[in-house]
Amino acid sequence: MSSLDIETIKASLETEIEKVNSFSGLEELRLKYLGRKGLLAQLTSVIPTLPVEERPDFGQQVNALKNKINSLIEEKQRLISSTQGKSISGPRVDIGMPGIAQDLGYLHPITQITEEICGIFSSLGFAIVEGPEIETEYNNFTGLNIPLEHPSRDAFDTFYLKTPKTSGERLLLRSHTSPVQVRVMKSTKPPLAVVIPGRVYRPDAVDASHSFMFHQIEGLAVDKNIRFSDLKGVLEVFAKRVFGQDIKMRFRPHFFPFTEPSAEADISCIICKGKGCSVCSRKGWLEILGAGMVHPNVFSAVGYDTKKYTGFAFGMGVERIAMLKFGIDDIRLFFENDLRFLKQF
Ligand code: DAH
Repeated sequence: MSSLDIETIKASLETEIEKVNSFSGLEELRLKYLGRKGLLAQLTSVIPTLPVEERPDFGQQVNALKNKINSLIEEKQRLISSTQGKSISGPRVDIGMPGIAQDLGYLHPITQITEEICGIFSSLGFAIVEGPEIETEYNNFTGLNIPLEHPSRDAFDTFYLKTPKTSGERLLLRSHTSPVQVRVMKSTKPPLAVVIPGRVYRPDAVDASHSFMFHQIEGLAVDKNIRFSDLKGVLEVFAKRVFGQDIKMRFRPHFFPFTEPSAEADISCIICKGKGCSVCSRKGWLEILGAGMVHPNVFSAVGYDTKKYTGFAFGMGVERIAMLKFGIDDIRLFFENDLRFLKQF
């Protein structure tokens, strides 16, 4: 061994330690150089074989190398622990942890039923139109042949708005979707067929079957030779698609100011199939809507020729249809926003 070997060992240590980046690799290196049978031990074992005068100098060089190796290893040790520390304290991702599921949004049951019903009429050729919730007294009542003394005009039955004197017409929150019939006919010439979904308002005390706000779908078809049988046919297709092909339908004579003749339409009870139960109050039938042939006075009010045209109209409550279809017994459930209820649809 000579001092040249010392330089070679030093150089090879420096390149080797450069490549190490783990504690185990560093320990391997330490054993290779400083272990009991390591390179340094081998150098030391050479000393007694050297000429006496060379021994002190060589011994010093071996010692210096030993110190050098120790300090390089210590330095590397600090470097490794500092980089490992960083990866521990930085953001850690546990890829085995279950993710946070995102709740998917979905449509309110009233919106679902409204879309289903409008979709059925749309497939029969009806256009879907909407009107404003703030209406004129004329469109809500007068244009629909509802006389001045009719109880529905009473302030107990309709929300009137404080109307500025300059506006001339009294405004209100529409109490049904029928005023949109007037709007459609004023702006469109026959033939026409529309369905009109929307909110309506009535100052009713809230209970299991009443709400101050609810939804209706109105229907109107006007053309030459429209007959009551057209109305029956269209409504039967609608009712069977919503409630099932096996239901029966019947029309009972009724009165509405804006239709003549007028009827209320029933379906056979979907619970007892017509035998009589608590849902249908033992009648076997469930009322689902009002309908009739458009009154000539309504046509005159919008400027339609009553000799040329006839038409049918109908109106239904969306909550009622939804309650019957889904077996819901309290209308308030639709508006309380209780997700335990809403998530069932
Ligand atoms: N507007 C009526 C109501 O709110 C429902 C109705 C009945 C609408 C007969 C119609 C109809 O178009 O022909 O009670």
